[in-house]
Amino acid sequence: MAQREEKLQLPYLEVKGVSHSFNLGTESLPVLSDISFTLDRGQATAVVGPSGCGKTTLLRLIAGLAVPAAGSILVQGKLVETTGRDRTLVFQEPRLFPWLTVAQNAAFGLRDVTPVSRLPLVEAALKLVGLEDFADAYPHQLSGGMAQRVALARALAPQPELLLLDEPFAALDAFTRSRLQKELVNLWRTTGCTLLVVTHDIEEALYLAERVIILSARPGQIKEVMDVPLPYPRDRTGAKLHQLRRYILNQLEG
Ligand SMILES: Nc1ncnc2c1ncn2[C@@H]1O[C@H](COP(=O)(O)OP(=O)(O)OP(=O)(O)O)[C@@H](O)[C@H]1O
Ligand SMILES: [Mg+2]
Repeated sequence: MAQREEKLQLPYLEVKGVSHSFNLGTESLPVLSDISFTLDRGQATAVVGPSGCGKTTLLRLIAGLAVPAAGSILVQGKLVETTGRDRTLVFQEPRLFPWLTVAQNAAFGLRDVTPVSRLPLVEAALKLVGLEDFADAYPHQLSGGMAQRVALARALAPQPELLLLDEPFAALDAFTRSRLQKELVNLWRTTGCTLLVVTHDIEEALYLAERVIILSARPGQIKEVMDVPLPYPRDRTGAKLHQLRRYILNQLEG
């Protein structure tokens, strides 16, 4: 019982003293340096930082696509050593298979689930992103925003506890981007999943997240973890949001 209570009190995710580097020929390129933070279950956190500071690398480590050179990443107290359906990743581009339908693309992360159980998971995910009427369409029949929604559905179908997003709306036009940001907030609140979003766009970070992690230039180090004390749904044009935006910009430029 005491052990169970302890588990319930653990943060959902713990990143502890993570450093990472890549080998470039004979040289070692340090990319992340001593990164530590935690995510509580259900929390929405954004990561901002200069290009090349290791944001994508950090997400890949948390997703279990690579193992950190130093430090550890724990999910509910358990060391992350490989990928898992509890942590799914959305990339900047949709990365859909052109020969598969929307539903088949959305089902891609469910290969180890029986077809009978797969169908309701895919249907629920397509509904969450508003594409239930496009299940049989092919990627070439979709707009850019719709394609990115399919990528979101693919990440949501396994009903992950942690949704990792790597600049998910960066390639979209401003109008579609703001619409999808709004949908993502709704989605996060509906599913109760934990959200970690990497973005270049400070306004996006402040629109989406309860906390913003500000990274320094490569090798990425945490400069600050900032709370965003604004209620949802957020007002992009609000004075407080603009004040926080200016603050983060100064931190990044400084
Ligand atoms: N597989 C790899 N092999 C060698 N170097 C790599 C590899 N992946 C990333 N890097 C290097 O690590 C550094 C960090 O890359 P990463 O993609 O994590 O940065 P980022 O913060 O996501 O940048 P951006 O904002 O431009 O997407 C870069 O200098 C990149 O060249
Ligand atoms: Mg990146």
